[in-house]
Amino acid sequence: MSITENNLLVVDEDAGFIDEAKQLFEGRLPTARTISEAVNAIEGGALRMVLLGPSIANEAAIDSVRVLRNEDPSLLLIAVADEVTSGLLRSAMRAGVSEVIEAPLTEQKVEDAIAQFSNDVLKRRTAAVPPPVSSDKKQEGQVIIVMSAKGGSGKTVTATNLAILLTRYPGKKVALVDADLQFGDVCLVLQLEPRFTLVNAAHELHHLDGSLLESLLTDHPSGLKVMAAPLEPAFADDISTESLLTVVSLLRERYDYVIVDTASMLDELLLSLLERADTVLQVVDMDLPSVKNAKLALETLRLLKFPTSKVKLVLNRSNAKARLDDKEIESALKMSLSAAVPSDAAVAASMNEGNPVVESAPKSRVAKGFETVAELIAGPVPEPSSGKGFLRRK
Ligand SMILES: Nc1ncnc2c1ncn2[C@@H]1O[C@H](COP(=O)(O)OP(=O)(O)OP(=O)(O)O)[C@@H](O)[C@H]1O
Ligand SMILES: [Mg+2]
Repeated sequence: MSITENNLLVVDEDAGFIDEAKQLFEGRLPTARTISEAVNAIEGGALRMVLLGPSIANEAAIDSVRVLRNEDPSLLLIAVADEVTSGLLRSAMRAGVSEVIEAPLTEQKVEDAIAQFSNDVLKRRTAAVPPPVSSDKKQEGQVIIVMSAKGGSGKTVTATNLAILLTRYPGKKVALVDADLQFGDVCLVLQLEPRFTLVNAAHELHHLDGSLLESLLTDHPSGLKVMAAPLEPAFADDISTESLLTVVSLLRERYDYVIVDTASMLDELLLSLLERADTVLQVVDMDLPSVKNAKLALETLRLLKFPTSKVKLVLNRSNAKARLDDKEIESALKMSLSAAVPSDAAVAASMNEGNPVVESAPKSRVAKGFETVAELIAGPVPEPSSGKGFLRRK
C-alpha cells in the first residue's frame, strides 16, 4: 500500500498539523477537522489510511477513533502523538489504531507504519489459508494445563521445556499459551519478542477465528507457537475468562498439543481453564509450603468433582535436601508422583540465556526429568534430530 492523492485522510483540529502533513506528501490530501467529519469522508470507500494528528492522538481523545474502525475495519489508522506513553498505546490499541508514531511527522515514519501494517495483513492472509487437513486428523488437540498453588515452583520451566520437547514428535503441532496474565514470562525465557499478545486476542474476541488467532502467535525457532501474556500487569484486566477460553478452544482445533502456563492462583480463570484440560500437571516443589498448597488445591479440585485421574503430579527439584521424601509427599497429597525433575543450576542458566535446558543441556539429568514429563503426554521422546536443532538468533 502506498500513499496516493486520495487514499490518505488527515484528521486534526490543528490546521498547522494538516499543513505539515500536506507539505510532507506534496498533495491535495483530503482532510477533516473532527472524527465525525472523518466518518463522512471515509463513506465513499476510496480512503485506505487515516493519519490522526496530536489533537486526537492523546489519552483523552483517542477512544473517539473507535467509530472509524467500526465504519471500516480494513482502514489503516496511524496516530501521530506529541508524546507516546504506555497509557496512550494501550488506549490506542483498544480503539483499533494500528500504529502510533511520535511527532514530528516524517515520511519515513509513515512509510514504516504502512510497511508494518502491510506485513501484519499479509501474515493474516497467509494464515487465512487453511492448513491441509489430513483425513485421519479430525480430533481436537490435547490441552495441558501447568499449575501449582505456590509461586516459583517451576511451572514456567516445566511448561516451556515440555513445549519444546513436544515439537520433537514428528508431525505434531504445539502451541504454548502464557496465561500468567500479570507476570507471564514465557517469552522472556524463550527469548521471544512478541508483537501481539493475549490483549490483542481479547480485543478481537468477537471476530476471532483460527486464522486471525494464528496471526497473533509468536514463532519460536523450534516450530513452537506462543500466545504471549500481556506485556504489562495492568493489561491483564483486559483479558476476560471468555477470551482466554476462546483462544484455547481455537488453538486445540489446530494444534496437537496446547500447553497453558498459569499463575499461582486458584481463581475463576484457572478453574474455567481446568474444565478444558485433558491433563493437569500439578507442579510441586520439595518444600512444605509447596506441598501444603498443592494439598489445598487438590482438595478444592476434589470438592469440585474434578476428575483427579487427569491430574499428574510433577515433583520439581526432586533431589533437593528437604525434610520431605517422595513417600511423605505422596501420602500428604493422596496421589502418586508421575514424574520427577531434579534441581540443576543449568536451569537458571538456560532461563537467562533464553534457551530451555532440554536444548541447551539435552543430556543432563534435569533434561531427562523433563522428558519423563513429556512421556506422560505423548510417549517416548524422539531423539533431537540433528537437523531439528534450532539456532538462537542472539
Ligand atoms: N529443577 C530446577 N532446577 C533449578 N532451578 C529451577 C528448577 N525449577 C525451577 N527453577 C528455578 O526456579 C525459579 C522459578 O521457576 P519458574 O519461573 O518456572 O516458576 P513458576 O512456578 O513459573 O513461578 P511463578 O509462580 O513466579 O510463575 C526460576 O528461576 C528457575 O530457574
Ligand atoms: Mg511462571
